[in-house]
Amino acid sequence: METYRPRRSVLYVPASNDKALAKIAQLACDAIIIDLEDAVAPADKIAARAKLAGIFANRPNERCEMIVRINALASAWGADDLLAAASCEPDGILLPKVDTPRDLLEAGDVLDDNFAPDSVKLWAMIETPKALLNIGAIAELGRDPASRLNCFVAGTNDLVKETGILATPDRRYLVPWLMQMVLAARAGGIDMLDGVSNDFRDLDAFAHECTEAAAMGFDGKSLIHPAQIEAANRAFAPSTEAVAEARSVKEAFALAENAGKGVIALNGRMVERLHLAQAEKLLAKAAAIGS
Ligand code: COA
Ligand code: MG
Repeated sequence: METYRPRRSVLYVPASNDKALAKIAQLACDAIIIDLEDAVAPADKIAARAKLAGIFANRPNERCEMIVRINALASAWGADDLLAAASCEPDGILLPKVDTPRDLLEAGDVLDDNFAPDSVKLWAMIETPKALLNIGAIAELGRDPASRLNCFVAGTNDLVKETGILATPDRRYLVPWLMQMVLAARAGGIDMLDGVSNDFRDLDAFAHECTEAAAMGFDGKSLIHPAQIEAANRAFAPSTEAVAEARSVKEAFALAENAGKGVIALNGRMVERLHLAQAEKLLAKAAAIGS
């Protein structure tokens, strides 16, 4: 079984914001995305890129995965961003505005040509209409470790902008696309993170959105503010009830009388070996989070 790496709470930190950068060491999020793209104004792009080496010189938070989001490779900054990010050896480089598998393959070639270690993964923003139309082919790269593709991040603000749909609190017009992303990520064996909630002062609405996202199958949520970390960590961890249920499934299959059985009855419900596999996965996830 593949080891679970929690990515419940993944916080964007603008590389241009020193005050926010100074906070990183104390944060309880599972990953941090140092942003060179949307959060950094054009006039600040080059100064922000120049800060990367200093940020990574002493890994500010050992518990967190550290990711760099670069500008689109088609932009004036993308190519230099990619080289600067690669030289920091982050856990991942997040590519925005990915449209096709080729975008990832080209970035991967640059990493290979510059001897970036295999530990430097590629993450992809899914935020353009083309990416949604090509999502299966993009996700399929996840099956080839040489592609480095490891995680998708929904770019909901860009999708709203590019498609003209109305952004509503219940996200009704986004949900079909979000579900498509989850499905594709599963097909490719990669993680899938939900988009950000812009309204960072309304933590009740945020917690509700996290609960929904967890029910939709997302592994975690991308965040814009430290106040959002706690709710995300809670929502994307298995609940106490789910852990108890998984334990009972595991115990039932461990009974001598059930050895070799494919299906059993447990508390009036049919439980199959596939549920045992599901339960074991959930328990491994709970253990990884607990430790
Ligand atoms: N990472 C780390 N620290 C952050 C942070 C973040 N993303 N967002 C805010 N903070 C810090 C602030 O620096 C502030 O620190 P202080 O207590 O030392 O003053 C503290 O948390 C409280 O911040 P607050 O005053 O509530 O918010 P703000 O008005 O300073 O900032 C935003 C609000 C939205 C501008 C800011 O949260 C932000 O830039 N978020 C990231 C945006 C981003 O990356 N977008 C691109 C992806 S969608
Ligand atoms: Mg975007």
